Amino acid sequence: MRKLPAAGTSEIAPSILSADFSRLADHVRQIENEVQILHIDIMDGHFVPNITIGPVVVKMLRPHFDLCFDTHLMISDAPKYAPEFVKAGSDNITFHLEAVDDPRAMIQQLRNLKVSVGVSIKPKTPVSALKKIISDVDMVLLMTVEPGFGGQNFIPESPPRARELRGMMRDDQRVQVDGGISTTTVPLIVEAGADTLVAGNAIFSHSDPAQAVRDIHHAATNIK
Ligand code: DX5
Ligand code: ZN
Repeated sequence: MRKLPAAGTSEIAPSILSADFSRLADHVRQIENEVQILHIDIMDGHFVPNITIGPVVVKMLRPHFDLCFDTHLMISDAPKYAPEFVKAGSDNITFHLEAVDDPRAMIQQLRNLKVSVGVSIKPKTPVSALKKIISDVDMVLLMTVEPGFGGQNFIPESPPRARELRGMMRDDQRVQVDGGISTTTVPLIVEAGADTLVAGNAIFSHSDPAQAVRDIHHAATNIK
């Protein structure tokens, strides 16, 4: 089992939601050497108004890649399905705070499964809602669009939320952002404290996905 890279570096996490699913492994192979994390969006048509993939796709990809499989569960029943994804090869599981009744129990379940643990909040959920559990996770995923679809515009109110979040977290924890991340928006959110940068459309809709990763990384690490 792989872990998230230790905090303290800027990491780009390409989201396969915007990849070509008819040749998924080939598309992922184009960015494989540029990154350590692969972001995998799981949607159930209930917690969010879209349906994506299940554990079988994670299982099929697993033998082909040594990347940290960062699995973003946008599903209503995370406790039920998390073990299936871990069995299929997920390395980090991020659940939504809004979707679980008992976040502490969810975190403990994931710790028992020996994966890295992330918790996510939607754009309208106050950052302060994380207070009681924030010290128990490896990463917080701050949604910078409403979850459900790739290719949406970055919500401009996100940087102050990232700053507030960073102020509540230790240096060994990661602040991840997801939605509308590009060379244009990444400096704003990195400056506010984000270090784990999910990007789908900006990478996989680019004619040269590897170059797109390098461009976003450059924009994230050369802030004027
Ligand atoms: C949205 C997903 C994202 C999505 C981001 O609900 O969680 O991971 O792929 O896509 P872009 O980078 O295209 O906004
Ligand atoms: Zn995501």
